[in-house]
Amino acid sequence: MLTTIDRLIDHVGREVTLRGWLYNLRSKGRIHFLLVRDGTGICQCVAVAGEVGDEAFARAARLNQECSLSVTGTVRADARSPGGCELSVRTFEVHGDAVDYPITKKEHGVEFLMSLRHLWVRSKMQHALLRIRAEVEAAAQEWLNEQGFVRFDTPILTPCAAEGTTNLFATKYFDLGHAYLAQTGQLYVEAGMMAYGKVYCFGPTFRAEKSKTRRHLTEFWMIEPEMAFADFEENLRVQEGLVCAIVSRVLARRAADLEALGRDPEPLKKVTPPFPRITYDRALELLREHASALGEHAPPAWGEDLGAPHEEVLSRLHEKPVFVTHYPTAIKAFYMQPEPTRPEVVRCADLLAPEGRGEIIGGSQRIHDPELLEKRIREHGLRVEDYRWYIDLRRYGTVEHAGFGLGIERTVAWITGVHHIRETIPFARMLDKIYP
Ligand code: 4AD
Ligand code: MG
Repeated sequence: MLTTIDRLIDHVGREVTLRGWLYNLRSKGRIHFLLVRDGTGICQCVAVAGEVGDEAFARAARLNQECSLSVTGTVRADARSPGGCELSVRTFEVHGDAVDYPITKKEHGVEFLMSLRHLWVRSKMQHALLRIRAEVEAAAQEWLNEQGFVRFDTPILTPCAAEGTTNLFATKYFDLGHAYLAQTGQLYVEAGMMAYGKVYCFGPTFRAEKSKTRRHLTEFWMIEPEMAFADFEENLRVQEGLVCAIVSRVLARRAADLEALGRDPEPLKKVTPPFPRITYDRALELLREHASALGEHAPPAWGEDLGAPHEEVLSRLHEKPVFVTHYPTAIKAFYMQPEPTRPEVVRCADLLAPEGRGEIIGGSQRIHDPELLEKRIREHGLRVEDYRWYIDLRRYGTVEHAGFGLGIERTVAWITGVHHIRETIPFARMLDKIYP
């Protein structure tokens, strides 16, 4: 009977067949220990001379790491094994050999491993990391679906910028001039929001980032909820709910993967609502008070954006994710709603993850007045005619609305504790990396 390693415990005493790849082979006298992985787990398959036949026993000794194979044998309960079982091999069959698999047990540098990313994803830690990524993505979507959000897919090829013009990827688009790879789905989910009330998009987004940092990719995935009749406050409540749902589901379902990564789950258990909030003004005060923690970096002057070192210090001052709200209007996107009593700041918030990780979410209440929106588009040096359709949304039944974007890779990096976000996506795209 065919089964998978995660189900072995249901078959103790019976004969089953596993299909997978040889993770490792150890031999001790008249016994070969075949560590077989099948994507659901790793199982120790024990081949004993005399039980498998001489020819098969000799063949087992020559098995290459990462060859694909089927192994048939009896499931034995074994408390010392990771899944509580091992397999006593009766017979096995190789499907595809793997001569000189380049990733061995010795230490390899990250650059080398990144160049073999197509193979590296099979390794234990990478397997755990990307499995957690999949859980984060599923958790986010399921939570939003349960809350009544409708998934609304937005285009990747777009006619104009949404998050500034300095980091756009352009491509020629037939006779229509240029198209740009989407930096965000936001403008389009705003159209969906007026059709369904609550929507989200989820997909890859692109930024031609010239920066080589551990938190920038040129292609990253973002989940972007957008809500009608929602203001700044409601926006933060939904963010708290979403982030807590993601973290608690990873803790509940992927504890073994967190452990494989050596991630201490305790800080994650503290992630419960409400999250602390500080204004941008207060953040600057805190940074002046903790200037020594900034090292060679100066605290920002009012009107300057927070950089990675600033976010890192702010995030270390809090045990839970912290909202930084009301940034200066001048440094934020054109669509953000200025505070009516204080138009030099906008009703926005960045959510900084704890443990020094920095921003994982950017969001805001949006401008709902068509005249003000048009004025802001002009002030940003953008062409009003490019945004006609977007302004239309304010001309036909405008409402207060708000939304945000959660970056998947930065969220996974925080939850798993991995240093660089390049490992949190199957195939990272960066300034200096497009292969494989
Ligand atoms: O703050 P950002 O630029 O916000 C937006 O794009 C809004 N339109 C979202 C919205 O309101 N619907 O990006 C949101 C998040 C960041 O907090 C970060 O997690 C991630 O996207 N992000 C990146 N992740 C990896 N590499 C990059 N270059 C990223 N740029 C942003
Ligand atoms: Mg941002």
